[in-house]
Amino acid sequence: MLLPLQKNVSLQSLNTFGIAATAQYFLRINHVEQLAQLRQDHALALMPRLILGGGSNLVLPDQLDGLVVHMDMQGKHIVSEDASHVYVRAKAGEKWHEFVLWTLQQGLGGLENLSLIPGTVGAAPIQNIGAYGVEIQDYFHQLTAFDFLSGELVTLDKAACQFAYRDSIFKHDYKDRLVILDVTYALPKAWQARLNYGDVAQLLSAKNIVEPQPVDVSDAIIAIRQNKLPDPAVIGNAGSFFKNPIVTADLRNALLAGYPGLVSYAHINGEYKLAAGWLIEQCHWKGRSLGHVGVYEKQALVLVNLGAATGLEVRQLARRIQEDVLAKFSVKLEIEPVFV
Ligand code: FAD
Ligand code: EPU
Repeated sequence: MLLPLQKNVSLQSLNTFGIAATAQYFLRINHVEQLAQLRQDHALALMPRLILGGGSNLVLPDQLDGLVVHMDMQGKHIVSEDASHVYVRAKAGEKWHEFVLWTLQQGLGGLENLSLIPGTVGAAPIQNIGAYGVEIQDYFHQLTAFDFLSGELVTLDKAACQFAYRDSIFKHDYKDRLVILDVTYALPKAWQARLNYGDVAQLLSAKNIVEPQPVDVSDAIIAIRQNKLPDPAVIGNAGSFFKNPIVTADLRNALLAGYPGLVSYAHINGEYKLAAGWLIEQCHWKGRSLGHVGVYEKQALVLVNLGAATGLEVRQLARRIQEDVLAKFSVKLEIEPVFV
């Protein structure tokens, strides 16, 4: 079987920031056999390689030398059930939000707080996607991946993935080595709404929904997100551009003494998570721009493409923001998307 290799492919419509990047070589993957074949091809296997899902957490350079491997494997199904859970599996190229809606259509709750997150099923474990008080690790069961080093298929359970806030082993030990092929979630039969975060409960009660079902929670979260986050189809962006910094209780308390408006939440191990959007807003970056990149006027944590933005410009604005937040608050902001 000949690999469907393409040359000089525009990635502008394949990354949500809308950067006009070109891939030297491009391969769309529909089947795991193609990955095995790619590994056997010495010239291709030696090239620098980017695994691409929905391109919603990436900042690309103008020119990508090497190979872009676009994960497009489709399919989802109910695998099995036991006394407490129903197990559902989707292939890497499935769109995450469509997968969430499909689980809701099956009458299965659990993933509703993660509605409307862009990107693919295969990329979700990479940064343990999270929103509105839920992370995928809460419902994750296992995944299958192709190991470029051995050529074998491997199965990883939750412990093996080492999930943390916007983090997993795929960003560290397994970086550039494992390609996620499918992911299985364990959805609870005894479902309970998780409404602790922000305005979700408020919105439901405003709609007079007293006993919300999973689909009601999903609808509320979709409405909140549409109001707050820019739609990448209209304004290019990669979601939150920085992680919310985790700091010691001492630093948080010292900052709170100087800035009573500081937004912080108790994290784990006695540490605190600070709202990076608030820190950036206090540095007067909200709504401002540098070159073709702006800070979204409704959410300071999101950088947006004002048209013709380059990866370099994105990096320059991100650095300016990091410098200002560090100077004012002694807090280092860590970038969330992957710079290629
Ligand atoms: P890509 O951007 O294509 O890739 C991201 C990384 O994953 C890259 O390193 C890539 O090499 C790797 N990768 C992709 N697929 C695979 C695979 N199959 N195997 C191995 N590695 C792979 N994130 C949140 O956590 N919470 C949010 O609420 C949220 N909201 C967002 C809102 C907007 C408007 C946008 C644009 C983004 C948002 N994000 C959010 C970020 C983004 O949606 C997630 O990180 C998503 O999981 C990225 O998926 P993707 O398929 O687009 O990955
Ligand atoms: N805030 C400001 N100014 C701003 C933005 C935020 O003061 O411009 C303060 C407000 O007090 C607000 C608080 O920050 O209440 C939190 O804001 P928001 O609820 O919008 O959440 P966030 O911390 O900015 C995080 C995630 C999002 C996720 C939402 C909802 C990170 C880095 N970001 O954003 O994830 O959707 O919570 O759970 O953890 C992403 O990762 O790409 C992403 C969008």
